[in-house]
Amino acid sequence: MLLLAIIQLLVISAVSAIYDVTRYGADRTGRVPCTDAIARAIKDAEIHGGGLIHFPSGRYLTGPIELKSNMVMDVGTGTIITFLDDPALYPPLDVTLPDGQRRSVPFTPLIRAWGQKNVGIRGNKVIFDGRGEIWWDRLPPPATRPIFVNFFDCHNVVLKGFTIKSSPMFNVNILHSSGIVIDGVRIRNPESYHGRGPNTDGINLVSVRKVHITGVDVATGDDCVVFNAWGYLKERVPTEDVLIENSYMSVGHGAISIGSVTAGGLRNITVRNCVIDGTTRGLDIKTNRQRGGTIENINYYNITMNRVRWEGIALIDLFNDNDPSWKPIGDQTPFIRNIRFDNIRGSCDRNPILVQGLPEAPIENIEISNTDIRSPQPIRLENSRNIVINGRRY
Ligand SMILES: *[C@@H]1O[C@H](CO)[C@@H](O)[C@H](O)[C@H]1NC(C)=O
Ligand SMILES: *[C@@H]1O[C@H](CO)[C@@H](O)[C@H](O)[C@H]1NC(C)=O
Repeated sequence: MLLLAIIQLLVISAVSAIYDVTRYGADRTGRVPCTDAIARAIKDAEIHGGGLIHFPSGRYLTGPIELKSNMVMDVGTGTIITFLDDPALYPPLDVTLPDGQRRSVPFTPLIRAWGQKNVGIRGNKVIFDGRGEIWWDRLPPPATRPIFVNFFDCHNVVLKGFTIKSSPMFNVNILHSSGIVIDGVRIRNPESYHGRGPNTDGINLVSVRKVHITGVDVATGDDCVVFNAWGYLKERVPTEDVLIENSYMSVGHGAISIGSVTAGGLRNITVRNCVIDGTTRGLDIKTNRQRGGTIENINYYNITMNRVRWEGIALIDLFNDNDPSWKPIGDQTPFIRNIRFDNIRGSCDRNPILVQGLPEAPIENIEISNTDIRSPQPIRLENSRNIVINGRRY
């Protein structure tokens, strides 16, 4: 599945022209802003059908960057790109894309591609610095701030080999897109900023298909990796066909989370060979009676979790809802079923396994094998059906 995106990227690298931003006037010492020079290089590439937007190794200072189809932002080894923090550079956007999809955000993202295909960012030991501290002080939560890397309605996306540091808001946020590879991306934000989380989700994906995440390393102030699926009334856009592997989550709320935006439904997600160190929750699926959707065919294999602060494994239908009484099944009733965990090991401080379904929609068909999560607390199962843990049926 992912081959497609990688092949496209190779094709772009092999056959396309190189648009060197310094030839369009970008300063590579990091002293002079080069927003306009980068935009000129991108415009020229766009007119000629795409290519590599090449940043020779150095330092750059810029405002927002918008990528187009058949284009790879190709950043030289060791480069640091710092994003200017003047809010006037990031005005609100409200756009209708060629396929009719509407997108509006309160701030222009730092790097974006909307409604494009075959588009990527690649580097080696590259740092993107969002100067988040200034934004967090200026607009503390619950205010919103600009998203760092934002792809919407895109097909064939490759993100490879860069570190995002100090993101104003979400770090990587991809919505309504397919054919996505995220490889060797590192994310570094403080765990807590003046005692508050600055909404810095590491990798936040919404209604995406055919996704491969490998070798990512996330330490941040909100969920490390989170899969959502948007839906409203009859329009529901699922997240499906996802693999995340060989990754490391060291600081954050949920290490690998599904939900709480679930109305579009999420299915066929595999998580394997990952290490979790000291996050708040380990592997969690969370939703509630306002969120809806079906979450099914989710597989977790070979996960080590060390010193998770709350639950190791948590499947929760009462996220931000304290009413465990029976309610009639409706449009927004969530269903969680067919979830498998094999070889999950480590320790946590609260319930090693928490399954909290609804009386009208129990969580069902959960198989947990070869699993040993040490904890001072017991396993807790509520409103669940057909749960098998290490060979014993509950
Ligand atoms: C999901 O997995 C099931 C069972 O393995 C398979 O039949 C189905 O085609 C998959 N669907 C998608 C969208 O990947
Ligand atoms: C889990 O780890 C074992 C031992 O390293 C390996 O043989 C197996 O293929 C892994 N499972 C998956 C699904 O990757």
